[in-house]
Amino acid sequence: MSPRTATTAVAVHSLLAERWSPRSFDAAHTLADDELTSLLEAARWAPSARNTQPWRFLLGRRGDTAYQRILDTLVPGNQVWAANSSLLVAAVAADRLEDGAPNPGAAYDTGLAVAQLALQAHALGLHAHQMGGFDAERLRASLGVPDGYRPLSVTAIGALAAPDLLPDKLRERETAARERRPLEETFFAEGWGTPLPVGP
Ligand SMILES: Cc1cc2nc3c(=O)[nH]c(=O)nc-3n(C[C@H](O)[C@H](O)[C@H](O)COP(=O)(O)O)c2cc1C
Repeated sequence: MSPRTATTAVAVHSLLAERWSPRSFDAAHTLADDELTSLLEAARWAPSARNTQPWRFLLGRRGDTAYQRILDTLVPGNQVWAANSSLLVAAVAADRLEDGAPNPGAAYDTGLAVAQLALQAHALGLHAHQMGGFDAERLRASLGVPDGYRPLSVTAIGALAAPDLLPDKLRERETAARERRPLEETFFAEGWGTPLPVGP
């Protein structure tokens, strides 16, 4: 069990317990074509309200133009480590349905698709790190995202590298304990704030 594994009251699937968001990526790693396709399929088969599938994705592999364009939209604190990832995936939500009506669930559904992509990355022995720290309008302009579509996140995917390759501050975060709010403060019964009795 890795020190990054989630501490849980009872066992959960290893994909969930062992997924985490690293910053140290192997700059020499390249993604195989079938691995890439597997990530796309995992996202494509996400559930969505009325099967509207409001997500679209823009992808760049390290070394290509799209990768550089997506990388350039990241805040400097993300660029410094994400530049070593093998793949950058920008997730974009269609805020309107085909008939033009607003789709209030677009972001929710697109997040689900990204979650599936991230878990599939883990299943392939890779790692994924989602980022909200990017300039959505710059991404829209440099990659031609049309009106009505909203860039929501960028996810870096690649192979894990040693934490000591990171600058000092990031190295500390890379090895710090992973934490979550306790079950009792998150899951309620009877009414808001009344903890659901949980445990082994
Ligand atoms: C929507 C979203 C946006 C995030 N934005 C950033 C970001 O801009 N930079 C960053 O380093 N991490 C970012 N993260 C990663 C979170 O900080 C991380 O998932 C959280 O601390 C939990 O850690 P874990 O994924 O290792 O369990 C983001 C995660 C999500 C889901």
